[in-house]
Amino acid sequence: MRLPTAPLGRSGRLIGTQGLGCMGMSEFYGPTDTAEALATLDAALEAGVTLFDTADVYGNGANEELIGPFVRANRDRVVLATKFAIERREDDPTYRAVNNRPAYIRTAVDASLRRLGVDVIDLYYMHRRDPAVPLAESVGAMAELVQAGKVRELGLSEVTGDELREAYAVHPIAALQSEWSLFSRDVERTAVPAAAELGVTFVPYSPLGRGFLTGSFAAAEQLTEGDYRRNHPQFSGPNAAANAALIAPIQKIAADRGVTAAQVALAWVHQRAEVHGLAVVPIPGTRKRTRLAENTAAATLRLTAAELAALEPIAGQVTGTRYADMSSTSAGRE
Ligand SMILES: NC(=O)c1ccc[n+]([C@@H]2O[C@H](COP(=O)([O-])OP(=O)(O)OC[C@H]3O[C@@H](n4cnc5c(N)ncnc54)[C@H](OP(=O)(O)O)[C@@H]3O)[C@@H](O)[C@H]2O)c1
Repeated sequence: MRLPTAPLGRSGRLIGTQGLGCMGMSEFYGPTDTAEALATLDAALEAGVTLFDTADVYGNGANEELIGPFVRANRDRVVLATKFAIERREDDPTYRAVNNRPAYIRTAVDASLRRLGVDVIDLYYMHRRDPAVPLAESVGAMAELVQAGKVRELGLSEVTGDELREAYAVHPIAALQSEWSLFSRDVERTAVPAAAELGVTFVPYSPLGRGFLTGSFAAAEQLTEGDYRRNHPQFSGPNAAANAALIAPIQKIAADRGVTAAQVALAWVHQRAEVHGLAVVPIPGTRKRTRLAENTAAATLRLTAAELAALEPIAGQVTGTRYADMSSTSAGRE
């Protein structure tokens, strides 16, 4: 099946109502079969996916380099999204710093364009907010990139509703990308209502709870050495068993309907956005064609009112935060 479409903010562009998260193809979620990952990009395009999501920080540039040839080969059919703001260092794999300074943004965009091998980025996100720099200054620098023809649309990630409004007053924002899933619903407090009010498309990341909602792993120890999720508060220690028990209603609905837990989790995000009255384009991450097909089919799955009611209490019962350090998330600044 082919995906239906959704608007990309007020840009006038229509994009497939689900995108593809490419992050795991280069880092964070265990070993990757590169040939299968590249085949998944092609399969996504054929299924009607148009929004392909990467960031300069994924693999420290490697993810942009990985998807570059695919983007160039299909330039007019791909809506290419990448991000800046998280600095890393070659000599220290654990080093991270958030940088929103205009001079840094100008350097970062050129580096992304070079790694991707393209002239223009369709959607350029500020990945994280750096409170040391006034938001208007950073968004002003991003707006100059639009004027210079290096970027088509602007996006933000992990900002609060107030921050989204403040940024929008400087330049239209096409998309807000933040975590939103059956496990993580804090964005419904301020970010989602502000996006609905402004006509900003919401791009939920980790809509499958980084894979946990699918039941494919139930505790950090089941993941390979070096997998980022081994240190995730919700999957570690006593939280893991408590949270694994919470996915039972998802699995029951999946079994009753003859679908998968992943499909139920994705259908929930689509229908929750309808409740809030905003366009939504979740970006489930996968490196496998079989999962791509499964996730695509979820975009047209409709959950009943009774099923939605059974899923409603889950998020309120989750133990552990969605990051070990919540200070750079929207919830950490609300
Ligand atoms: N803005 C931000 O701060 C931010 C943060 C995190 C992520 N992101 C973006 O959002 C994208 C998606 O988020 P995410 O990758 O963190 O989490 P996710 O989409 O919730 O889950 C991805 C995990 O689920 C697995 N998976 C995918 N489809 C599945 C299915 N049908 N059945 C079972 N397992 C399935 C994937 O494994 P396989 O690959 O093996 O299929 C992967 O381990 C990322 O790729 C990235 O582009 C953005």
